[in-house]
Amino acid sequence: MRVFIVYAHPSADSFTREAKDSFIKGLESAGHSYVISDLYGMNFITDMSEAEYLREAYYRRDESVPADVVMEQEKINLCDAIVFIFPLFWSDAPAKMVGWFNRVWTYGFAYGEDRAMKHLEKGLVICCAGNTMEYFQKTGILSAIEKVMLEDRLYDRVKNRELLILDGTSRESPLRQQNRKKHLERAFSAGVSF
Ligand SMILES: Cc1cc2nc3c(=O)[nH]c(=O)nc-3n(C[C@H](O)[C@H](O)[C@H](O)COP(=O)(O)O)c2cc1C
Repeated sequence: MRVFIVYAHPSADSFTREAKDSFIKGLESAGHSYVISDLYGMNFITDMSEAEYLREAYYRRDESVPADVVMEQEKINLCDAIVFIFPLFWSDAPAKMVGWFNRVWTYGFAYGEDRAMKHLEKGLVICCAGNTMEYFQKTGILSAIEKVMLEDRLYDRVKNRELLILDGTSRESPLRQQNRKKHLERAFSAGVSF
């Protein structure tokens, strides 16, 4: 399978970067190919311009889509699957990734009639988080992430959707070291199983 990875973390000195590297090793070991958008690395613009807003809000398909957005859309349509890898910031993806959705999911591409976006086979969300799964279940935050990422952002654009939370991975948590090997193996296996 050809996989498009959308990755967002501001620092290479992070567990999320390690998880991304393990996932890629898994993909490669199973013979899959990939393209990656490292949103911080490429300094992807995440603020929507007024022209973009007017295009989306008024469904103006005739208004042009910015070149950097078209490039992301082309990467999607050249792949069979999409993977989002990010740290949880205030119970959501970093603004860098939320802004990617704001700009790349355009009218006529990701929504509206006659969508140009390819119907992808698989979508995986790998989210590194400081809190524990137990906490996410108890507070309803797990269900909120599932709803927003899988049911709203991916929705019927992707056939099979999955969420993998690598929990207890904040720097100050003793769980980070305890679970490190297990979590990196889970990321690797997720890559293999594409
Ligand atoms: C600004 C900020 C907000 C965060 N918000 C949350 C949060 O809402 N829930 C959570 O579980 N962890 C949160 N964390 C912890 C991160 O998800 C943490 O970065 C993650 O465990 C991955 O570690 P890494 O940054 O080394 O990749 C936050 C971290 C930062 C810097």
